[in-house]
Amino acid sequence: MLAKKTLAVVGVGKLGEALISGLLKNSSLAASDITGSVGKTTSIERVEKKLGIKVSQDNKETVAGKDIILLAVKPQNMDRVLKELKETITPKQLVISVAASVTSSFVQERLKEGVPVVRAMPNTPSVINAGMAGLCAGVHANADQIAMAEAIFKCVGETVFVDESLMDAVTALSASGPAYLYVVVESLAEAGVKLGIPRETATLLAAQTMFGAAKMVLDSKAHPAMLKDTVTTPAGCTIDGLMELEEGKLRVTLIKAVVKAAERARELVNSQTQTYK
Ligand SMILES: NC(=O)c1ccc[n+]([C@@H]2O[C@H](COP(=O)([O-])OP(=O)(O)OC[C@H]3O[C@@H](n4cnc5c(N)ncnc54)[C@H](OP(=O)(O)O)[C@@H]3O)[C@@H](O)[C@H]2O)c1
Repeated sequence: MLAKKTLAVVGVGKLGEALISGLLKNSSLAASDITGSVGKTTSIERVEKKLGIKVSQDNKETVAGKDIILLAVKPQNMDRVLKELKETITPKQLVISVAASVTSSFVQERLKEGVPVVRAMPNTPSVINAGMAGLCAGVHANADQIAMAEAIFKCVGETVFVDESLMDAVTALSASGPAYLYVVVESLAEAGVKLGIPRETATLLAAQTMFGAAKMVLDSKAHPAMLKDTVTTPAGCTIDGLMELEEGKLRVTLIKAVVKAAERARELVNSQTQTYK
């Protein structure tokens, strides 16, 4: 699907870099098929060195004639960048926006009539082919273009299509999610250290355990509660640990964290609109 395609990434920051690295390893796209743009002059050399792609500060030159344009600047920069690119992007090109809280109609309204837009919410584990992306299509994207957007993210992980009204929730759950889980791994490793395990070993024990538990959920498709029960021996030690988690309100804390992040994602678009009105 991506054979002989060219890709422009506007804003090769943390997410853009993770996606390009993943695509270079796992798709038919070569470094010569990808161009990127950044905000600061100092970023050019760093990104070129790291990814081997051509990078510039000229957004128009970066996107001109490319088959797929991935917009990965911060939400608050989207309005400015879209207005800058309005005359350059044509309806023959596919625009994919990964900016949190920026709707597909926000993007469409700022580009020429008919430009196909797909909104995506990937995450940084895309760099190791373990990404998770939620996708939804704007009104002008046809089936082939939607499939092409899906192919991009399938190369670097899993994809799921959701109604656009759920994209802030996806942002809060799977795009922000790695940050929450790093805290969990870090905390489990700290517990190991507290109990005398060397930090490196404790981190390996914690991270591989999280990886294994996640893989069990994915592979078995069993309810997590059922998998938890298989670890919890009656009168054993796990139930004592679980009781501590309940007392510390781990579940409700995680639920509230995701709900709060989703609220913030909704707010972002409002503050952005006010800024640029
Ligand atoms: N990080 C994540 O896990 C994640 C996950 C899903 C979606 N996203 C979305 O991805 C987007 C980028 O997030 P990020 O975390 O990667 O942020 P970031 O690291 O700050 O990246 C932003 C990039 O945009 C560049 N930039 C700034 N102004 C520009 C301009 N006028 N033209 C072209 N490039 C410009 C910056 O270049 P300089 O550094 O040179 O200024 C930087 O490379 C956001 O919209 C975010 O919502 C992020």
